[in-house]
Amino acid sequence: MGIFTRISRRWSAQCCALAFAVGAGIGSAQTPAAAPMGGSAAAVRVGSARQGRLIAKKTCAAYHGLGGNAPSARIPKLAGQNPAYLYRQLRAFRTGARRSPVMAAIVASLSDRDMADAASYFALQRRRPDPSRGAGRSAAAERIFFMGIAGRVPACAGCHQSPAGRGAPRGMRGMMGGGMMGGGMMGRGMMGRRGMGPATTGPVPILPGQHAPYLIGQLNRFADGRRASPVMGPIAANMDASERTAVAAYLSATSP
Ligand code: HEC
Repeated sequence: MGIFTRISRRWSAQCCALAFAVGAGIGSAQTPAAAPMGGSAAAVRVGSARQGRLIAKKTCAAYHGLGGNAPSARIPKLAGQNPAYLYRQLRAFRTGARRSPVMAAIVASLSDRDMADAASYFALQRRRPDPSRGAGRSAAAERIFFMGIAGRVPACAGCHQSPAGRGAPRGMRGMMGGGMMGGGMMGRGMMGRRGMGPATTGPVPILPGQHAPYLIGQLNRFADGRRASPVMGPIAANMDASERTAVAAYLSATSP
């Protein structure tokens, strides 16, 4: 190992290798609070996308696709994903913090370095959105993403990167927050681009262009606790099934 640097402001701007937080920060027991917003003090490792491609080919491609656009709608697209998030999830499968017998068996063969490399590789691939099926683009779902549901659910855009070309729609500007988050933070300029959410959340996944069935599955798991997340658990539990489905359909029809 030995290659440490500072977290980049825009990981996606780096060319062949991506820097992201590992070790004492992301992936450890105190992960959620470990990285300050902007990550300025976080020690990070540079993963090798070139090595990562070899690992992807051998270990991940059969299900996630070599380009990271999984053909099955129940398996997540890894292409274009936040590398710090990918790395953290791989570690979570290994420790059991995120339960999946299939993924636990697969990551057992990977070193930390392999995980960092694979995460770097997939982050650099281009995510192809699902073909838009019209209905996905519902105004109600877009509203949930940017504004949340008053008094019940915070705006997803408070933490997650907005779809390409979709700033908060007219009439919603300055209104975001949905009650829980407050703070009028929005659009692509927010934390999502940097990969770090508010100081207490850890790395935040990029949702636009992801398979809707996968997203719905994860929201359901957050809601009933099968996937433990102090952040997403209460958010998903406060949404009803039709709201989860609508926001997932909206996201899958957009581009990152
Ligand atoms: C306070 C910040 C915050 C807000 C607000 C938020 N999220 Fe999240 N979300 C996160 C974090 C952090 C994770 C990663 C959780 C983990 O590590 O398991 C996440 C994970 C997810 C995932 C799992 C994605 C995957 O690739 O497995 C989905 C789906 C999701 N969020 C949807 C939403 C939706 C829909 C909303 C709005 C209704 C929302 N989130 C609001 C921070 C947030």
